[in-house]
Amino acid sequence: MKGVVLAGGLGSRLFPLTKITNKHLLPVYDQPMIYYPIQTLVNAGIDDVMIVTGGNSAGDFLKLLENGEDFGLKRLSYAYQRGEGGIAAALALVEDFADDEPICVVLGDNIIENNIRQAADDFRKQEKGAKILLKKVHDPQRFGVPELDGGKVLRIEEKPQNPKSDLAVIGIYFYDSTVFEVIKTLKPSGRGELEITDVNNHYINEGTMSWSELDGWWTDAGTFESLLYASKLVAETGANNLKDLTANQGK
Ligand code: DAU
Repeated sequence: MKGVVLAGGLGSRLFPLTKITNKHLLPVYDQPMIYYPIQTLVNAGIDDVMIVTGGNSAGDFLKLLENGEDFGLKRLSYAYQRGEGGIAAALALVEDFADDEPICVVLGDNIIENNIRQAADDFRKQEKGAKILLKKVHDPQRFGVPELDGGKVLRIEEKPQNPKSDLAVIGIYFYDSTVFEVIKTLKPSGRGELEITDVNNHYINEGTMSWSELDGWWTDAGTFESLLYASKLVAETGANNLKDLTANQGK
């Protein structure tokens, strides 16, 4: 399985912090934000990763991450997204890189306390389809929210005013190689983006979506409140064993 980190978009909710740099290069406590999703993939046993980025400071990713060796990656590739056409539009750019293999996609502003090793191993055994991870939250209106019937996900609504559960679909997704054909069928949403929720609903309708609940804390870091919260969580408990890694780098 290959790994993808989506770090495009304009980070407009963090303006002016993102006026001259990319959101994913901002600090989350003592590390650049992009370190966390990369480490999430590494901890899942993935060593071939593509980062999709965009905006003015795209070249800084190369300076910061070089060839990915410090993370133990076998290969680190880069793609450039023009504008901010949405998460699914960014994902479309990795089709050649994926080369018909299954992929694990992590949104560049999603940070987790523990790891997704079990979910990744389960998806490696899943013959086809997709897998999402869910987490209980106090503010589901900000996220993709699943409607569940027993253990079955019926559908996902993107940022619903009246959420059907108190669960969020977190920004870590597993897809088989048909995902790129699914993306080609999408139409832009009300906010003018190709939505990852529409991709997920396609797999739900097809009956090939599985899910599990993430353990440990999870947060995004795309607003002032969540960026501060993410730093606080990392400072208090650490995340992803990242401290061990950077200690080894003699930072
Ligand atoms: O954090 C989880 C949530 O992420 C999910 O629950 C939602 O279903 C999903 O739509 C997404 O919601 P957001 O509105 O918070 O996503 P945002 O626009 O903040 O984008 C998240 C990351 O995706 C961002 O850090 C970089 C990447 N991205 C986003 C856009 C719009 C791109 O690479 N390109 C893009 O054009």
